[in-house]
Amino acid sequence: MIPGPLRQHLRACRNIVVFTGAGISAESGIPTFRDRFEGLWAKYDPQEVATPQAFRANPQLVWDWHVYLADAIRQARPNAGHVAVARLAELAPRLIVITQNIDNLHQVAGSRDVLELHGNLFRLTAFVDADDLFVGDRSPIICPICDGYALDEECDHYASKEDLAAIELKAGPVPRCPGCRALLRPDIVWFGEPLAVDVLDAAWSATDTCDLLICIGSSLEVQPAASIPMRAKRNGASIIEINPKPTTLSLHADAFLQGKAAEVLPELIDEVWGSVL
Ligand code: OAD
Repeated sequence: MIPGPLRQHLRACRNIVVFTGAGISAESGIPTFRDRFEGLWAKYDPQEVATPQAFRANPQLVWDWHVYLADAIRQARPNAGHVAVARLAELAPRLIVITQNIDNLHQVAGSRDVLELHGNLFRLTAFVDADDLFVGDRSPIICPICDGYALDEECDHYASKEDLAAIELKAGPVPRCPGCRALLRPDIVWFGEPLAVDVLDAAWSATDTCDLLICIGSSLEVQPAASIPMRAKRNGASIIEINPKPTTLSLHADAFLQGKAAEVLPELIDEVWGSVL
């Protein structure tokens, strides 16, 4: 799978980044986004279910769509690909997972250092509608319960963060923050929204200091995440890519391993790091 000299080189790497997209969860039964027939965006228009404008226009429809997604993800279990990533973290001196996935499966599989570029579906946050808040001479405060912008007179000072933590992404009316009564939404990045600055900063820092980046199951079509593998390469890191289909990265990778993550990744780890066990 990997020629001898490259194998030796990979084994000597000290700082590994595993960069993942929807493809690593495909064999757990979670649909990818851009697969031609089964991908989520082949069946649903992201503008109608995954933008702040869509939520503003029809919060219930957007909430219900995320409940449907969450129900599919709740039934999913980590596959051999997720497990292999967690195992590699035990073999390598330093390993950081940078994922675009919102499904929590890396953490369930045992990975500890996970940067979730696009958030986490099972965490809720307030939907902040600047159009409502910044009007007239009203000046918003930060709600002590959800940390979102709120108007003081609407805040329930007897509410607690535990009340908020008890609310789940499940079927029913769109819930509200127990403090400021703002509508709640999944804490994920929708189209047109910026990534969390602290998470992105940590991802750039890991990218700039890694000596090996393994890119698994991403079409590399969504920025700024998509620029991470090439940025690592420009900084001198070796690049391994695992994907059943070639991407714009494949020709630049030190090795493009064509196939499914759950099959190829355990083989790669056995071949390169196996004798470390
Ligand atoms: P995509 O759906 O765009 O791409 C999935 C990739 O996984 C494709 O390149 C497939 O060839 C590959 N793939 C499919 N099955 C695989 C398998 N068994 N093993 C390995 N690879 C496999 O998903 P992402 O690149 O993750 O954003 O999409 C990026 C972002 O676009 C997502 O995070 C999401 C979406 O809109 C947000 O939700 C903000």
